[in-house]
Amino acid sequence: IRKSEVKIKGTAYQSDDVTNVTPRILSKIGKNLHTVKHHPLGLIKRRIENYFYTHFTNRVGNPLFAIFDRLDPVVTIHQNFDSLLTPEDHVSRSPKDTYYVNRDLLLRAHTSAHQEEIIKMGCDAFLAVGDVYRRDQIDATHYPVFHQCEIVRLFTEGEVFSRVKDPTGLRIFDEGDRRSHDKQEMHTLEAAKLVEFDLKKCLLGLTLQLFGKDVEYRWVDAYFPFTHPSWELEIFHGGDWLEVLGCGIMEQKLLNNAGAMSKIGWAAGLGLERLAMKLYAIPDIRLFWSEEEAFQKQFRVDNPETPITFKPLSVYAPCLNDISFWVPSNFSSNDFYDLVRTVGGDLVEQVDLVDEFTHPKHQRTSHCYRLVYRHMDRTLTQAEANEIHSSIGQKAIENLGVEIR
Ligand code: PHE
Repeated sequence: IRKSEVKIKGTAYQSDDVTNVTPRILSKIGKNLHTVKHHPLGLIKRRIENYFYTHFTNRVGNPLFAIFDRLDPVVTIHQNFDSLLTPEDHVSRSPKDTYYVNRDLLLRAHTSAHQEEIIKMGCDAFLAVGDVYRRDQIDATHYPVFHQCEIVRLFTEGEVFSRVKDPTGLRIFDEGDRRSHDKQEMHTLEAAKLVEFDLKKCLLGLTLQLFGKDVEYRWVDAYFPFTHPSWELEIFHGGDWLEVLGCGIMEQKLLNNAGAMSKIGWAAGLGLERLAMKLYAIPDIRLFWSEEEAFQKQFRVDNPETPITFKPLSVYAPCLNDISFWVPSNFSSNDFYDLVRTVGGDLVEQVDLVDEFTHPKHQRTSHCYRLVYRHMDRTLTQAEANEIHSSIGQKAIENLGVEIR
């Protein structure tokens, strides 16, 4: 590739004097951690989806919220800033804060970048989940790539007042004043209040589903260029107030530009890492990118609602033991993996099939596995590892019908 090009997922972009994406950043694009089933971010995403699937269905029982989770992180300046009414001189536009592919394109800094295009498609209720990019220092809680979930819901006039006994004469639009605490100039107070109520009910319900119904919470006034009024929802967790999400009633100008001038709506954005770190006690944001079996295996649960408390990766030395056996014809490696987990428990960090062959004469198949044993809080002795290893062999003979070589 030429030096004046930036290649992202097979597409070549012309670079220029604004380009500031690095190979390290580009290497993260396409990883889509939020779509990895047993990744902590994938688990959180599934919990959010489950909340919306179970609580919000349309007239015929189908999910009300559409989910977009594969939108291209390369977006235009219009998508990331202009469509969201970001002031021309806002700091977030600076290449100091944002990764530019070139002077026209950048790596989205938030999933709000997709609000306008999805509304233009005619979608009135949706989630948009994806990786977002911000230039920042790297420490335990900051990483230049993280993941967000955008939530948007629009209402017609009829929908806003659908629960009012006699809605005659009730309108969502009016000519009035913007009021700092409750409404935009073109909204009636009653419409703004009903939409605020719906937003708070929906987002609080989600938060209580994630953190438990007894968690302490508070709504704090906030500011975003694309919502008014705006709030942040905070919960009391681990002795501190934690910001869970930002939200607000969408600026009507944004909806008008997107072709939804007859509707009123709310929007919210959640950071997935922040939630996952608290929910699973993950101490360092870099761990989300870990390819270590010792990290990944702690999130291998079938039901995403299963409570998980992360145990930090051990720094103590591992013990490696191999095991080779003849396998019966109906044998599956997954059976052995299950057995290893049952017998060896948390002392087994990793199991790999390192060799497999079929004997030319008697046609029997042999498997060789390498097991890595490691204790989380102390050095495991080889004698201890040997003891577990031999009971795994014993159980494999008894339960799986293998023959040790
Ligand atoms: N995009 C905002 C952020 O990244 C969050 C947000 C989304 C706020 C939608 C309001 C409405 O901080």
